[in-house]
Amino acid sequence: MTDPVIRWRACAGTAVLLDGFHALKHALRFGAQVPVAVTTDRRAALALAEELAADVRDALATLLTEVPAETYASLVPRPHPTGVAALAVRPSREANLRALGQLPRTAPVVVLDTPRNLGNAGAVIRLAAGFGATGVVTTGPLDPWHPTVVRGGAGLHFATAVERLGVDELPPGPLFALDPEGEDIRGAELPDDAVLAFGSERSGLSAPLRARAGRLLRLPMRPQVSSYNLATSVAMTLYHWSATGGAVPA
Ligand SMILES: C[S@@+](CC[C@H](N)C(=O)[O-])C[C@H]1O[C@@H](n2cnc3c(N)ncnc32)[C@H](O)[C@@H]1O
Repeated sequence: MTDPVIRWRACAGTAVLLDGFHALKHALRFGAQVPVAVTTDRRAALALAEELAADVRDALATLLTEVPAETYASLVPRPHPTGVAALAVRPSREANLRALGQLPRTAPVVVLDTPRNLGNAGAVIRLAAGFGATGVVTTGPLDPWHPTVVRGGAGLHFATAVERLGVDELPPGPLFALDPEGEDIRGAELPDDAVLAFGSERSGLSAPLRARAGRLLRLPMRPQVSSYNLATSVAMTLYHWSATGGAVPA
């Protein structure tokens, strides 16, 4: 087998960095292709796998190569406490667009309309994965595969279809936009094929998205509070979908 550093450098330009044990664990669980994985302490990483992720322990044992701490530090922007890092092949845009465009759908698509905060985008991808959402689409300049978003998503970009699209290219399905001025979400049932849109942290929903929305929905909130954080709004909305009949995969 070739030196892991050579393999790392060969893939690094196009691959997705999985930063830490948990990101690698999640990516493997959801079928990511991982051409190279390194650790500063193979025994400790496999012990962690035995304790927390027996389902991927054998895959990790096959993949993980121990490297000196200085080598590991030279491969990653900042060392992770678990001393584990890997590179994964990014799913093709075509495959993601197919998944996003397919009807009938068993779970909603989340749309973040021009989000600005990379940490929020990562947290939303993690939520979407947890609820079994079909995908997360962003509009605007933020790259939902930016390394900071992938870090925030804990390797769960591989559990849902993540793409950037224009407002005029959104997946099919009834579009519900979340806005503090909308009708109370508690009176609404969100269908499995819903497209659930959320506005940007600073300016809320854009005019083009607002114009396309079939319904505006509000989350319950006292009048003196202006708005909730973007990721918590997504959490409440997906919870509402699941609590009113949506099926979260077991
Ligand atoms: C931080 S808020 C945006 C605040 C922004 N200053 C505005 O003018 O709307 C980000 C997004 O979270 C969602 N959101 C936050 N609070 C909400 C609420 N009470 N009801 C519905 N959506 C909400 C909306 O989609 C909103 O665009």
